Amino acid sequence: MRRVLLAAAAVLVAAAPLAACQREGGGGLAGGRVQLGGPFNLIDMNGQPVTEKALLGKPTAIFFGFTYCPEVCPTTLTDLTAWLKALGPDADKLNVVFVSVDPERDTPEQLRLYLSNFDPRIRGLTGAPDAVAKAAKAYRVYYQKVPQEGGGYTIDHSSSVYLFDAKGQFVAPIAYQSPPERAVSQLRALLAG
Ligand code: NI
Repeated sequence: MRRVLLAAAAVLVAAAPLAACQREGGGGLAGGRVQLGGPFNLIDMNGQPVTEKALLGKPTAIFFGFTYCPEVCPTTLTDLTAWLKALGPDADKLNVVFVSVDPERDTPEQLRLYLSNFDPRIRGLTGAPDAVAKAAKAYRVYYQKVPQEGGGYTIDHSSSVYLFDAKGQFVAPIAYQSPPERAVSQLRALLAG
């Protein structure tokens, strides 16, 4: 009996981060003029300071997550890589940004290593914990540390990719696991202005 209980507990622990990771924050963003985004002071994968001004002049797809994420972040980054490939050369006209909500573990070096698995045009940003918190708040991104049994932690976070125009105005989200043809057509529409 004890073994069964332990096995059940292990399943719960294993399932918790994924369930947590998939929780959607900032609902109701699909239509209308939503104020999203704002000033931030983060650092890039070379440790250089980056502000929101670096994203102006090109449309942007931005996503918040963390490199130790068990499923949602790698799935989204794999999807983004496929979408960029589908866009062809036009993908160069887009900023694609992955912002860490785990600044303790996601150093610039860790982001660089992790993102080397995906399209090289995806830029990683991290920063001081308070700077990350401020950026997440501006983008209405929910994230919360969740302790794991046996030590360590995972992070429960919003899972949408947010699209912005070249002036930094929020346009629309792409939902987690959106069908590829739909996501690519949203990106094409964004690039067309
Ligand atoms: Ni994640």
